Amino acid sequence: MNELELYKGNRITLMACSSCNAKCSDCYIGYTGNRTPDDLYNIAYLLMNDGKHVRIDGAEVLTNLDYLKTLKLVGQNWIMTNGFRIYSEPDIIDLLRDNNIDTVYMSYHYGIQEDINSISLTIVEDVIKLLNKNNFNIYLNCTLTNRNYKDIKYIAEKTYQLGAKGVGFNKIFQQGKAKNIENLDLTKEQSKEFFEDLNYLRNHHDKNEFYITRGGSLGHDTFKGKDNFRCNAGNNHVMIAPDSKVYGCNAICRPGYEIGEFINNKVYLYKKFYHDESVCLAELLGYLNEDNMDNLTYDKYPVLVKKYSNKK
Ligand SMILES: C[S@@+](CC[C@H](N)C(=O)[O-])C[C@H]1O[C@@H](n2cnc3c(N)ncnc32)[C@H](O)[C@@H]1O
Ligand code: SF4
Repeated sequence: MNELELYKGNRITLMACSSCNAKCSDCYIGYTGNRTPDDLYNIAYLLMNDGKHVRIDGAEVLTNLDYLKTLKLVGQNWIMTNGFRIYSEPDIIDLLRDNNIDTVYMSYHYGIQEDINSISLTIVEDVIKLLNKNNFNIYLNCTLTNRNYKDIKYIAEKTYQLGAKGVGFNKIFQQGKAKNIENLDLTKEQSKEFFEDLNYLRNHHDKNEFYITRGGSLGHDTFKGKDNFRCNAGNNHVMIAPDSKVYGCNAICRPGYEIGEFINNKVYLYKKFYHDESVCLAELLGYLNEDNMDNLTYDKYPVLVKKYSNKK
């Protein structure tokens, strides 16, 4: 039995569901179950009253449109989606607007979409056009592998031309289902090339016009040599899965990687959990694997990070 202590951080993401209308071969979602819309709403309400900053995410939140009332409750003006429900039922755009959503984050995995996602890029592009016509802000998420990492300059240009307000690059996490596919990870050299190109892009785009981000899984910026990367997973941000298990990051919301529990509407973390924020927690946990979670203690952590960093 793990000893627990109250979570002192502020940010909480409620994972609404594991249901999805697509089947991506790389999907990292590993929890099961769906909250009922009323359950989600009530929990969000209580957490907000407790002073927490609450956000709603999940596998595909648009699989149940009744979840939208909770987004409105917590003041979340954005949704993350694969776009398919908007494509097949364009009228739901009105419902999005009624729930104060004006920003849509969509997956656009240029160069690899057909390999990993059952929804084609053409469909996503149609949805982008439709959302643009309806004055939504669109941000695109692009997963990078060793196949498309060289294309980020082209991808940025293409997404800009499509009318997106920004693009976010994330490295593939080869965890969960993605463990079964061939190695698509970037080598150290490839990561370096990525950061060079990212730096170029950021110097060529005004971030108020087109915002380019990158996820923690890409690690430290090897180009600038300046190390200001921090990962607050587990310390000031946790995810609560539909079964009330607590995780540090959506990329690692799967049995075996729990860092705490949600009991009587309060978040508790395992006392032994320790994260010094110097590395992406999801990457670290993926490397550790679920049998070695006990290494996330103050005593063992520095050795672990050293070992992990050497591996990279
Ligand atoms: C889990 S999905 C949930 C939202 C929505 N269903 C979608 O696909 O956009 C959130 C983002 O995580 C990405 N993702 C899923 N599995 C991944 C993995 N193994 N590595 C990196 N990104 C992944 C998806 O492509 C998507 O951009
Ligand atoms: S990545 Fe998104 S769209 Fe693809 S299976 Fe996972 S939750 Fe569904």
